[in-house]
Parts: sequence; C-alpha cells; structure tokens
Amino acid sequence: NQPVTIFDHLGEENLHKLVDQFYDRVSADDELTELFPDDLTETRRKQKQFLTQFFGGQPLYTEEHGHPMLRARHMPFKITETKAQAWLACMAAALVDTGIEKNVREAMFDRLSHTAKHMINSTDDET
Ligand code: HEM
Repeated sequence: NQPVTIFDHLGEENLHKLVDQFYDRVSADDELTELFPDDLTETRRKQKQFLTQFFGGQPLYTEEHGHPMLRARHMPFKITETKAQAWLACMAAALVDTGIEKNVREAMFDRLSHTAKHMINSTDDET
C-alpha cells in the first residue's frame, strides 16, 4: 500500500498541462525571458520529467539526466529574489489555470517556493 502522491492525484495529463501553462507565462514575462532559450521545447520536456518525480511519480528526470543537482544546474543563470518571485508568480497562475484544487495547489506551491528560494544565487543590487 503505497501512499497516494501529489502526482497520483494530478495524473500525467494535468502535470503536463501545468508545465505548458507555466512556460507560456515564462515566455511572456519580462523578468524571465532573458534567462531562457527562445525555444522552450526541451526545457518543457525536462521540467515535465522533473516535476513528475518531484511530486512523487516515476524518477523520469534522474533516469535520463542523473542526479538533478538543481542549484548547481542553475548556477550559470543570475537568479535573484526578483527572478524567483517572477518564477513563482508564473507558477501560481499556472496552478490556478490548470484547475488544480486549492489544497493541492497550496501544498505544491509550498514545496516549489522552498526550492525556488534555494535557487537564488545573486543579489538584486549587483549589476
Ligand atoms: C532549468 C531558471 C527555479 C527546475 C532552468 C533554466 C533556467 C531556469 C534559465 C535553463 C533552461 C534551459 O536552458 O533549458 C529558473 C529561475 C528560477 C528557477 C529563474 C527561479 C527561482 C526552478 C525551480 C525548479 C526548477 C523551483 C524545480 C522545482 C528546473 C529544471 C531545469 C531548469 C528541472 C532543467 C535542468 C536541466 O537542464 O537539466 N531553470 N529556474 N527551476 N529548472 Fe529552473
């Protein structure tokens, strides 16, 4: 008897919908577009793999790419408090758009907020 995970609750289709809604917003966000490639196809694919495992599904990201080491993989990008807030705002809106119920959405957002804060590697005042 495995515990029911957030991934079980959402299902693959909703998780993919969430990631697609999220990157649609990222690509329209002035704070974030400069950091991301123009073509987000591969970024979307990797994030679907990652969030599947992050929310308790199969370890799809690790199977293909190895240990996530997320902070290290974000070091090439200047991630400030402002960028993290912009990332989280896109995610909050995508969670609502996807129609995920409030208590599940809040549990997901809490975990994502924690990880987003951990990604901050630069201060806003340096140029
Ligand atoms: C990759 C930005 C937070 C998961 C990336 C990339 C950028 C980025 C620019 C590279 C995209 C590419 O070249 O394809 C940010 C910013 C964040 C943030 C500004 C704000 C705090 C997060 C969080 C997670 C996450 C919270 C997970 C919960 C990933 C994953 C990748 C990625 C899985 C792909 C890594 C790979 O190349 O294998 N992110 N990110 N990111 N990000 Fe973030």
